[in-house]
Amino acid sequence: MKLWGGRFISDSNPFFKKFNSSINIDFRLAEQDILGSISWSGALFKSGILNYDEYKKIKDALCVLLCNVKQDPELVLKSNSEDIHSWVEEQLINMLGDLGKKLHTGRSRNDQVSTDLKLWCKQKLKCLFKNIFDFKVELIKLSERTQHIIMPGYTHLQCAQPITFSFWCLAYLEMIKRDECRLNDALKRLDSCPLGSGALSGNAWNINREDLAKDMGFRSSTNNSLDSVSDRDYVVELVSVASISMMHLSRFSEDLIFFNSSELKFIELSDCVTSGSSLMPQKKNPDSLELIRSKSGLVFGCLIRILVILKGLPLSYNKDMQEDKEGLFDTLDTWEECLCMASLILKDLCVNYSNCWYSLKTSYSNATELADYLVKKGINFRDSHYITGKIVLEALTLKLPLEKLNLSVFKKYSKHIDMDVYDALDVISLLKKRISKGGVAPRVVSQAIIDEKMSLNI
Ligand code: ARG
Repeated sequence: MKLWGGRFISDSNPFFKKFNSSINIDFRLAEQDILGSISWSGALFKSGILNYDEYKKIKDALCVLLCNVKQDPELVLKSNSEDIHSWVEEQLINMLGDLGKKLHTGRSRNDQVSTDLKLWCKQKLKCLFKNIFDFKVELIKLSERTQHIIMPGYTHLQCAQPITFSFWCLAYLEMIKRDECRLNDALKRLDSCPLGSGALSGNAWNINREDLAKDMGFRSSTNNSLDSVSDRDYVVELVSVASISMMHLSRFSEDLIFFNSSELKFIELSDCVTSGSSLMPQKKNPDSLELIRSKSGLVFGCLIRILVILKGLPLSYNKDMQEDKEGLFDTLDTWEECLCMASLILKDLCVNYSNCWYSLKTSYSNATELADYLVKKGINFRDSHYITGKIVLEALTLKLPLEKLNLSVFKKYSKHIDMDVYDALDVISLLKKRISKGGVAPRVVSQAIIDEKMSLNI
């Protein structure tokens, strides 16, 4: 049954019918559509459009439908309804006859679809917050057990300065905390209810929209009806929050893929999250990380997709907007899946102390210390940098790390260098110096871990 047959003389072309239909995507909004309909029937009762008996019958029938849908979420797909809103109304009419036809009074699919989608997002965000929490916990746990593992930090993918593996974990913790904050902000903005906006100009039935919004668990109702049915900012915002976070997860994956490379072997991934080669028996590939890295592309694609769908649309509702859901669902499902995968990867990750240490020792990543040492001896930083560069060049020729050079070699470049240079070049002592906020000093890192654990109550 169509909801709009009266004005038409001939039937829809079957191909158009299929083309126009969104049920195979928006069937996921079934629960939200039914819950919204229950609230709407309550609002119709409060406004005197339904009497108590009618309201009760509609509500009971919708509750039965809700149970059926919860038991079998694919139930909707067995129909050939145009969309989820048509399906729910059709079911109600099947159950209640003419009484079911009263439900849509004062309501449009335009305010309904956005209400359903916002309700769905609020539900989905609860799962995402949980996934983010789990990922944060895994980062903190790994950080806690790798405080003693010193490795080179990189810039330009060249060894730069020593850091600890723990410090690396905390860097990603900061990123995911910002992602979480952005998600919270997006949630605050989307938490307003469009229902009662009608097709575009509001409703003429004196519905108390604020009560209706509260009944559905929204913080408030939306202000302008024309905006309410046109607004998909929240879709764009959620996809963009997810995109930023997926970009972080992709960099996280890339770092781990690099650490896991046959050349570095800083880490070993668990058998549970790797796969082998069909031909080369020795292979253990970081598929899970590579897939996170590539899935970020899917999410970025969805961001462009929704922006392009919306950018040329005149107010208010246009059918183009029906295409908003697929990308949003894909995005949030993918983000959720990748967060879970990332947590799983961290759970059993082994960090190889010796390989990290060896790489560090052959990296000249303590060269900045030598320059700083010279500054302390009264030489300006630019000259110190130059002298140190020359010493590194000689050490490279001798194939020795800086700390293995004889004092006589140092002396060739600066008479200010004495035996205390060996202390300055010591990796542990250089780490310990970086005690200002955000530094890699072990006690700064361990305090950060304590603070994070406290804030998560773990
Ligand atoms: N299936 C539509 C969507 O997802 C519902 C709104 C339809 N409104 C309309 N006036 N045709 O956007």
